Amino acid sequence: MCGIIGIVSKDTHSIKHDTLPLLKRLEYRGYDSAGVATLAGDIQKQTGHIGPFIDSVTDHRTQASIAHTRWATHGGVTALNAHPHADGTGQFMIVHNGILENADALRASLPNESLVSETDSEVVAAFFHDRIGVQGLTTDAAIHEFIGAAEGTYAILLMQRDDPTVYAIKHNSPLALTRASSMHGATILASDITAFGHLSDEAQFFEDQTYCRITPDSVAFFNAAGDPIEIEPKSFEWKDDASLDEYPHFMIKEIMEQPTTSRRLLESLKTMQAAELDTFATTLKKARRVVFLSCGTSYHASLIGAFLLNQLNYEAHTVIASEFENFILVDPSTFVIAISQSGETMDVILPLKRIENQAMKIGSIVNVPYSTIQRHSDTTLELLAGQEICVASTKAYTNQVIMLIKLAERLGYDVDCDKIPGRIEECLASIDGIARELAVELKHTREMYVLGRGAAYPMAREIALKLKEIDYIHAEGMMAGELKHGTLALIEDGTPVICLIHDDNPAMRSSTREVEARGARSIVVSNTGSGEVNVPAGCEAEFAIYSCLFGHLLSYYIGVERNLPIDKPRNLAKSVTVG
Ligand code: F6R
Repeated sequence: MCGIIGIVSKDTHSIKHDTLPLLKRLEYRGYDSAGVATLAGDIQKQTGHIGPFIDSVTDHRTQASIAHTRWATHGGVTALNAHPHADGTGQFMIVHNGILENADALRASLPNESLVSETDSEVVAAFFHDRIGVQGLTTDAAIHEFIGAAEGTYAILLMQRDDPTVYAIKHNSPLALTRASSMHGATILASDITAFGHLSDEAQFFEDQTYCRITPDSVAFFNAAGDPIEIEPKSFEWKDDASLDEYPHFMIKEIMEQPTTSRRLLESLKTMQAAELDTFATTLKKARRVVFLSCGTSYHASLIGAFLLNQLNYEAHTVIASEFENFILVDPSTFVIAISQSGETMDVILPLKRIENQAMKIGSIVNVPYSTIQRHSDTTLELLAGQEICVASTKAYTNQVIMLIKLAERLGYDVDCDKIPGRIEECLASIDGIARELAVELKHTREMYVLGRGAAYPMAREIALKLKEIDYIHAEGMMAGELKHGTLALIEDGTPVICLIHDDNPAMRSSTREVEARGARSIVVSNTGSGEVNVPAGCEAEFAIYSCLFGHLLSYYIGVERNLPIDKPRNLAKSVTVG
């Protein structure tokens, strides 16, 4: 994961007031440690979140700065492992997002360089010191050699002490560049547009195996061989949602925004995105089968997609993206649909790139425009949920499910999508109280189970995931029918079990009675008014949305009761850009 920022300006800029506030906007990409380097070779870095780092940093003005927020992959969370890294002489400074798979081999090829951290990234600074500082290569020649030698994923910013030039090198990790008029035309480099979307509405997105030389007066892109290339600027619309308004956490703000965000999506599917929705529907009709590609919460949305399409007699499959190639066959009659909030999830990008020429067509459903997954697809639908800051996905997830229901409606599924935003509003108002009460009751719980059937099964998994990531509760979301094949052995007196029951489904009622007979504390979520938690009426796919609102609220309020870092759970990051 990790987020990187670089600024090159004609006048000097402040690391405290210009560079680090942009880095803070990328904190969702990782928050184990943060650091910044200036042209004079001053490197400050520390473990922990960026806010306290900004407060404690000694400000400097500089014409070029590079900064980094880390999600640890190689080496523990220590100040020594934090970026920026420099070579032993302090001449070459780098920040890196990605993983260098052959870092050990590169390290071994630099016997005269002294490395002090446990990271794969430090070797990059040592490499450039060796090639430029010792062997006398030009920077361009050294970059050419680096691109040839490095294996893995990288977005790297390289700066030499006292030379106001930053080199940005990219392969498999995202990197964007813009110019900010509000900063006197300074050039900004960032992992994604979230960093500068409030300053600019246009960006250039790096291609793989390319690099860029940025001086205070010029920007020049090159391919790996060093030939100049053009990268077209793309304009984008970015709604900046980075303020909490009256809410204590982004998670609850984002949950409560859903009546608005769902309306916005449905409106766009009738107007701005109507043609793309048509393309999805037409491609789906032509394809022999549909395969979804996604992970985590987005995978749970894809399960709803597979459920809906199978109901409509389309052959549809989904497998968690990191195991995609082991379990799914893609051929020229397969329509692959990648679903991702960030559009940058490496577990999705890697198989997507490998099957690019094998599938009939690749579609994407993403929230972040111009993200890598969107740029690797033939046709795309945008979720329009607005910026999602809490690491746990809520509003983007609901829009993923609505998008799939809308697509199913377009293919004949019996649902009135226009009623969904109003029902979401009604649901949030009516279940908030019970979610708070149950959170008080369940705040000391160490394990929980969530059961569902049909479209509610993915929701059982989704609710369990939120209880794990937000509340650190060991929760299992499962098909209710599987219970008696093993898991029932774990149910004891008082074990909390959430049972998602649509239209009083008799099989779900039996599963509920089975756990109650073993002493479980059952919490029934119903759409017929017969539960402890009652959500609006609606079809099975709609029940999936409303019951999940309860799960998201419950995990939020348990997190509040436990005083946990709800928006930034331990060990996680929003954008999982490592495979
Ligand atoms: C959980 C959550 C994650 C993401 C997963 C995929 O609340 O947000 O499980 O769903 O990391 O991320 P995207 O959707 O960005 O591909």
